[in-house]
Amino acid sequence: MKIGVPKEIKNNESRVGMTPAGVLELTRAGHEVSIQSGAGDGSGFFDEDYRKAGARILGTIEEIYRESQMIVKVKEPLPEEYPMIRENQVVFTYFHFASNETLTQAMIDSGAICIAYETVEDPDGSLPLLTPMSEVAGRMAIQQGARYLEKPVKGRGVLLGGVPGVAPGKVLVLGAGTVGIQAAKMAAGLGAHVTILDVNMKRLRYVNDVMPSHVVTEFSNEYNIRRHIKTHDLIIGGVLLKGAKAPNLITRDMLKEMRPGTVMVDVAVDQGGCMETTHPTTHEDPVYIIDDVVHYAVANMPGAVPHTSTVALTNVTLPYILRIANKGWEKACLEDDGLRKGLNIAGGEVLYKEIAATFATAV
Ligand SMILES: NC(=O)c1ccc[n+]([C@@H]2O[C@H](COP(=O)([O-])OP(=O)(O)OC[C@H]3O[C@@H](n4cnc5c(N)ncnc54)[C@H](O)[C@@H]3O)[C@@H](O)[C@H]2O)c1
Repeated sequence: MKIGVPKEIKNNESRVGMTPAGVLELTRAGHEVSIQSGAGDGSGFFDEDYRKAGARILGTIEEIYRESQMIVKVKEPLPEEYPMIRENQVVFTYFHFASNETLTQAMIDSGAICIAYETVEDPDGSLPLLTPMSEVAGRMAIQQGARYLEKPVKGRGVLLGGVPGVAPGKVLVLGAGTVGIQAAKMAAGLGAHVTILDVNMKRLRYVNDVMPSHVVTEFSNEYNIRRHIKTHDLIIGGVLLKGAKAPNLITRDMLKEMRPGTVMVDVAVDQGGCMETTHPTTHEDPVYIIDDVVHYAVANMPGAVPHTSTVALTNVTLPYILRIANKGWEKACLEDDGLRKGLNIAGGEVLYKEIAATFATAV
């Protein structure tokens, strides 16, 4: 199959849909891979690396779309790309259709086969192509939180690990899912005292089993949250209600109960945030302050570490790319229920119920 990887054109997106390791595997399997010149620069993968792995380097995005049967990328196609996408061309990327009617209509009109990373499922119902980005964001939340606890950037002036003779900082993690566990692990590694809250006892039991004793689990409820925000230096929001807006676990009135310079990192900002005062920020301007509480709410945290994020993403997408390339999309989807769940739009029809329901299109 002819596979093409364009350079991402979304603002500040430095990830790329395939690494040289992916090119090597695909070309060994007899496929032809074209990479747009410079596509991997932002992630630290250069044209020469791709060429050595067996890729063809093409100069323009138009050539990539024109010459490929399957497009592999990271973010949803932007309006400039819509006219380049054609009937029966497979596009494998994050789409997030439900939040973008224009994109949905453009892909219906194109007749392309749109397989969305975010809805591919594992047999246990988990989302294997979303998990790595939550892992990155969870770990980054502590790195960023630790930085904004510094005094020159208006934090409390607390070193999370403490030093001999000085108690460590305290981190409160809301949600013991992928983000929460990775955040707790990083904070514990720095030597901070960690409290992690969830409503799912299975998750709390798991955390209790695998984490060191300075990571304490408690049930998530308003009483416990109000108690802990008074004494914790850094609060991480990592809750998720599948397909719904995140619940407001930290309400505006609670800010007054926190100590000045407390830092809140609301990773769940992409689902509306789990803190009432959250609004999305960018890597250029990541924080704002309300009632002396520092808010960090960057909606695409993995974008700041494109090398790690690209490798983490392509590790999990490559097996699917290989299957689609080897078998063709129809057979690959027929043989794999999880991949079939990724099939959102094909041949002008919306195949994913939730998207059809959102835009009231017949399935
Ligand atoms: N900002 C970013 O760049 C970025 C990157 C990746 C993921 N995210 C977001 O982070 C959020 C978390 O993702 P995840 O992969 O960890 O989800 P997950 O499903 O693995 O975990 C969510 C956890 O929240 C728990 N929860 C639900 N209600 C709760 C409550 N009232 N109190 C405490 N816990 C509660 C659930 O039981 C679950 O354990 C999502 O909104 C995701 O989209 C953001």
